[in-house]
Amino acid sequence: MQPVPCLPENAPFTPEQRAWMNGFLAGLFSNANAAPPAPAALPPALPARPLLIGYGSQTGSAHGLAKRLAKAAEQRGFAPTLKELNAVTSADLVTAARCVLLTSTWGDGDPPDNAVGFWSQLSAATAPRLDHMAFAVLGLGDKNYADFCGAAKKFNERLAQLGARRCAPLGECDVDYEATAHAWLEALWPRLESVGDERSGPANPEPILPAPTSPAGPEFTPQPPAPPSKAEYSRANPFPARLKTNRRLNRAGSQKDTRHFELTLADSGLSYEAGDALGVLPTNCPALVEELLATLGHSGDAVLPNSTGTPAPLRQLLATAWVITAPPPALVKEAATRAANSELLALLDPARKPDLDQWLYGRDLVDVLRACPGAAFTPAEFTGYLRKLQPRLYSISSSPKAHPGEVHLTVAAVRYTAHGRAKGGVCSSWLADRVALGETPVPVFVQTAHGFRLPQDLSRPVIMIGPGTGIAPFRAFLEERRATGATGSNWLLFGDQQRACDFLYEEELTAWSQDGLLTRLDLAFSRDQAAKIYVQNRLEEHAGELWHWLEQGAHLYVCGDAKRMAKDVDATLHQVIATAGGKTPEQAAAYVAALKTAKRYQRDVY
Ligand SMILES: Cc1cc2nc3c(=O)[nH]c(=O)nc-3n(C[C@H](O)[C@H](O)[C@H](O)COP(=O)(O)OP(=O)(O)OC[C@H]3O[C@@H](n4cnc5c(N)ncnc54)[C@H](O)[C@@H]3O)c2cc1C
Ligand SMILES: Cc1cc2nc3c(=O)[nH]c(=O)nc-3n(C[C@H](O)[C@H](O)[C@H](O)COP(=O)(O)O)c2cc1C
Repeated sequence: MQPVPCLPENAPFTPEQRAWMNGFLAGLFSNANAAPPAPAALPPALPARPLLIGYGSQTGSAHGLAKRLAKAAEQRGFAPTLKELNAVTSADLVTAARCVLLTSTWGDGDPPDNAVGFWSQLSAATAPRLDHMAFAVLGLGDKNYADFCGAAKKFNERLAQLGARRCAPLGECDVDYEATAHAWLEALWPRLESVGDERSGPANPEPILPAPTSPAGPEFTPQPPAPPSKAEYSRANPFPARLKTNRRLNRAGSQKDTRHFELTLADSGLSYEAGDALGVLPTNCPALVEELLATLGHSGDAVLPNSTGTPAPLRQLLATAWVITAPPPALVKEAATRAANSELLALLDPARKPDLDQWLYGRDLVDVLRACPGAAFTPAEFTGYLRKLQPRLYSISSSPKAHPGEVHLTVAAVRYTAHGRAKGGVCSSWLADRVALGETPVPVFVQTAHGFRLPQDLSRPVIMIGPGTGIAPFRAFLEERRATGATGSNWLLFGDQQRACDFLYEEELTAWSQDGLLTRLDLAFSRDQAAKIYVQNRLEEHAGELWHWLEQGAHLYVCGDAKRMAKDVDATLHQVIATAGGKTPEQAAAYVAALKTAKRYQRDVY
């Protein structure tokens, strides 16, 4: 006699489904012990529980997590529907019994571009009641920003206001989001599994799971996501690329230092598409490490654990593991307290945050320690306050079709003098000044940007607005358009300070303009005349043409400065559509929203 099997405790079924399946198994095996089951005894298929997964993601991290969540959900007996948030409709919301939203935050606490439309819909007075829905929100953010996980917080509050039941507390992930996100998602399953389909009932036309062929077999055990293969390079396991070219793009007389870098990806197995970004994990400046050690009064030889517990000398950890530029607030407070710096202590009053921010502007750790003489820290105490050094993202400026095995970047070297000391951006100055060609390993990974892609229809026109380093992805786009033989017109708007020395990639762009790859090239050099001229002014000047291109189905792309340029371009776009297209401001806003939904207005701004 075969023993009668039961479903494992962790099998992904509701109590009703479990009872039903256990009953079915008992029946099946008692039959099996007596006689082979008749084909007609096969059970009716189990209904998979629908799960709406919406993601808002600018550079792909939340999107990647959402895809993993959807895969795991399927393995646990859910029927997931994965959508970017702008594609989630009111109808989706009012019919969803369970909904998980994953979103990053951009700008100053804003949703990413592919969630902006969703937020307008959700925050509107006309948003539907969602009393039937159970939801959970996971936020990706960066604690260095004032409004940490701001977009996720807004979604989390608003869904509850609309009557939806929160089935898990808001998940808030800092830049190193993997471990927090994983723990949050694991804790979510039992909560989602306990949510019934109050509204749907048995008559709901839900997707049906195929009938199990071997009920007690491994199909009933949810499979954990496959671990990444060792050979797979990623953010957690970056590829040590080598720098092949480091060329200054600005000419003599420029106030800027923008570099063209070429890195070799040979044998890495890494691939990318035009529009993607490259993550680069830098090393801190050794001179700054020595300055910091001297200020702390330590030799640097003390051995301490890094963030994963591996021991290493303090000097090495300060160079590679921790942020030693921007001072962490808790360390500022502790240093001020130990040094009894009354002026700084007064600024630490929460009511004086703007004054503290002003005091901290341009000050690094060394500046803070020097302002707090007598504040002594042991190596372990000091590093206990430091945050993990993070990779920087750079928009890739090459098409893999034009440069197989290579990746090109266009990087502005950050350099400035503040509080009497010359300072540099960690990653940009490392790449520009200290990475030896062909020698120094440069740890890199590809950050896929599904939200920044050329149209698949090669006959579509494209408009690219990319001043300064914003040119980067458009060099890649133009190389890609040439390599694919795209027939659509290409319009580039580029700008910088002075034409004589800041016309980045002048030879290439001029040649493309002459040979017809570039249908239009409009330039805006702000400092070549008394009145400043920016790319948005060129858009205004050519309003009729812009409107005509949009009506021809053009895709519009913006890359570069998020704080001013992208906002001004967006405002100008609305204005041009209103004036040249003869629309009211509301109609122009609806036109822009429709462009975004159709993925015809995409941005890569930072
Ligand atoms: C999706 C994406 C794509 C990007 N693409 C590109 C690209 O193609 N090219 C590119 O160059 N960058 C790009 N960036 C920006 C890039 O990731 C880095 O942020 C940039 O290179 C600065 O990093 P860093 O390590 O050199 O400087 P950090 O060490 O991070 O220092 C920058 C900080 O220094 C401080 N600072 C700067 N200037 C001054 C000053 N004058 N006075 C006082 N303080 C100051 C500010 O606090 C500033 O935030 C992109 C970013 C994103 C998110
Ligand atoms: C220009 C810029 C602005 C950002 N603004 C915020 C912010 O206001 N609050 C926050 O918590 N995170 C902010 N972030 C961090 C992102 O949310 C974080 O990097 C996130 O992991 C990106 O996820 P995504 O790739 O899915 O878009 C910002 C990042 C950049 C580059």
